[in-house]
Amino acid sequence: MIAVKQTMNAIDDGISKPSNRIQFRGRRYGRKLRSRMRDLIYERLPKHEIYLDKTEGQVDPASFFETQMRAHWLEIGFGGGEHLAWQAKHNCDIGFIGCEPFVNGVASLLRHLDGDRPSNVRIFPDDARPLLDRLPVGCLERIFVLFPDPWPKRRHANRRIIQWETVETFYRILVPGGELRLATDDPRYQAWILTRMTAHVGFRWLARCARDWHARPLDWPQTRYEAKAISAGRRPAFLCFERL
Ligand SMILES: C[S@@+](CC[C@H](N)C(=O)[O-])C[C@H]1O[C@@H](n2cnc3c(N)ncnc32)[C@H](O)[C@@H]1O
Repeated sequence: MIAVKQTMNAIDDGISKPSNRIQFRGRRYGRKLRSRMRDLIYERLPKHEIYLDKTEGQVDPASFFETQMRAHWLEIGFGGGEHLAWQAKHNCDIGFIGCEPFVNGVASLLRHLDGDRPSNVRIFPDDARPLLDRLPVGCLERIFVLFPDPWPKRRHANRRIIQWETVETFYRILVPGGELRLATDDPRYQAWILTRMTAHVGFRWLARCARDWHARPLDWPQTRYEAKAISAGRRPAFLCFERL
């Protein structure tokens, strides 16, 4: 656990502390990591990890990769990493950035990556927001936020990742013609997302009919959270927006 602790201590030390007033309220640790998962954190995370220095400057996603990528895509809150690993495998010319503060999720993503090949995946094992603030204009072609924590209590609504400010940030960092993919199984969060996204003149909702947004696109594999939601009888919404 030392490496995990070091990574997390560094984070708590302020290397990548959120620059805004909202603190990360989710879980960083789950059940104790099995030794194989611990080894992945020790051995593989350093090869993939993105470190933010303490300066305030912008960070170009291209600098995270040794080779030039055609474009860069970002997944916020990748959970177990199945979706990110699938996308990375099927889009070898894209550089992927995954943000996830839950260490068990980071270990799970590392397990899905082929450790023997140079990888097109970089991991920011923390709250995505300080990284978002430092990304330059138009540096991403696609952003995924799949089943973000719904924080259902009204008094916790300011903990949701989708806020007016985040929508504006997505607009700033996406390239014109880029895509934002959001998913939720919570009807109230769905309404919250649509209120904010459809009010922004810089985004166009790509759905033409209700069937569109209740059917997951073919190039979008099911996540662990979606599978759980469906088995619990909930109906996910898949919300895709073009950045104009
Ligand atoms: C409900 S889970 C969904 C996980 C995964 N996307 C899926 O569909 O299976 C939400 C995830 O978002 C992560 N998360 C929450 N706030 C975050 C933040 N500010 N930055 C990055 N990840 C965050 C949580 O740790 C959690 O793994």
